[in-house]
Amino acid sequence: MLMYSWMVWVEYAPERYDVAVKLLTGGKIDNIKDTIASRISPGDRVLDIGCGTGSLGIKCVQRGATVVGMDISDSMLKECRKNLDRSGCADRFEIVKDSITNLRRHFEPDSVDVIVSTMVVGELSKKYLLHIFEECRTILKPGGKMLIADEVWPEGGLSRFFFRLIMTLMWVPQFAILRRAFFPIKDLKGVIEEAGFEIRARRTWPLSTFQLIEGVKRHD
Ligand SMILES: C[S@@+](CC[C@H](N)C(=O)[O-])C[C@H]1O[C@@H](n2cnc3c(N)ncnc32)[C@H](O)[C@@H]1O
Repeated sequence: MLMYSWMVWVEYAPERYDVAVKLLTGGKIDNIKDTIASRISPGDRVLDIGCGTGSLGIKCVQRGATVVGMDISDSMLKECRKNLDRSGCADRFEIVKDSITNLRRHFEPDSVDVIVSTMVVGELSKKYLLHIFEECRTILKPGGKMLIADEVWPEGGLSRFFFRLIMTLMWVPQFAILRRAFFPIKDLKGVIEEAGFEIRARRTWPLSTFQLIEGVKRHD
């Protein structure tokens, strides 16, 4: 949660976002994004939900995909456009500015090969999350996959206890400063399964609450 508070604050100044997150995660975030990009095949149509400054989507373009990056923040998308120009990826990366709760407004059913996302779903409540993942399932092609990485509740009893303690202490100052609440995901895997995905892989990183889940669209 401390990391989330920091990141939300950094989102107010997106030009320092990528460097700040890299520092804060000790470079782990690049490793997570590289791991996700390694699951992309040339020609895939990829949707990055909450694309922010575009760093994950750019890695997917570099793997031969075409990418749609969706985000609600003007300032993050401004930075994303700069990064696309710098990387020469602009012709294979389309930006959609809207909330990811409105996926069906922009995408036909069965029209996307892969959906990816890093550090976004933790900003949403479980109710919205289930709705978003269900829409993700609808717009994915049969057999399409979704790769979601975020901070989740630790699984061990003792670490859960300390995590809960820190969260409780931080909630009031966090809301006072950021005007945003953080909803740590208690069961990311369970929500993805409930939305109609079969879990294919789950990866964690040492000394971190990050988890990467790969799900495949389940047949009805
Ligand atoms: C912590 S940043 C992560 C950005 C990027 N995915 C990354 O890993 O660098 C969270 C992003 O989610 C976006 N976001 C949060 N809620 C959203 C929503 N409902 N619809 C679209 N974007 C959203 C924010 O604007 C921000 O760019």
